[in-house]
Amino acid sequence: MEEVPPTWKTEIKSEAETEQLAASCAQVFPQPAVITLNGTLGAGKTRFVRALVEAIGGKAEWVSSPTYVLIQEYPTNPPVSHFDAYRIADEEEWWELGADEYFETGWTLIEWGERVAYGLPESFLEIRIDLNEEEIRTFAFHPHGEEYRSSVEQLEKIYSAK
Ligand SMILES: Nc1ncnc2c1ncn2[C@@H]1O[C@H](COP(=O)(O)OP(=O)(O)O)[C@@H](O)[C@H]1O
Ligand SMILES: [Mg+2]
Repeated sequence: MEEVPPTWKTEIKSEAETEQLAASCAQVFPQPAVITLNGTLGAGKTRFVRALVEAIGGKAEWVSSPTYVLIQEYPTNPPVSHFDAYRIADEEEWWELGADEYFETGWTLIEWGERVAYGLPESFLEIRIDLNEEEIRTFAFHPHGEEYRSSVEQLEKIYSAK
């Protein structure tokens, strides 16, 4: 996967702030969209997905870590497909899942997306979450492709205005 620098970063200090950020993301993500979430175990990837799903009318309890399920689909608008690539053994398993067929519809969110770099589309948004010792989370937005660059620009404006 090509290294792309972040075009925007923000510090998140609480779950409420994760919810605010996700609500702003919901306003700017294109449709369809492919979004990867990278960051260590406990960084807050699943928490962010839950906040995003709630922001578009889904129920918080639908979203758990799909580490053992690999894919979960939520009947939101837009529909969300939630992948966890943590336990994908190899490229063959990824293609057997048919993940790329989801990319054309709604929002596809992929936890541990960097592990399946070979299976990502040319254009997608990478979100890296870094958790430090003071429990501050830095969300860094790395847009792969022009469409996502402009989404992140809009996101920065909307979120900073709150
Ligand atoms: N913004 C946040 N503020 C405080 N706690 C958070 C935040 N995001 C996640 N957490 C907590 O961290 C833990 C791990 O989050 P989770 O989203 O499951 O991580 P990941 O999916 O990256 O492994 C959960 O208990 C969650 O409530
Ligand atoms: Mg998770």
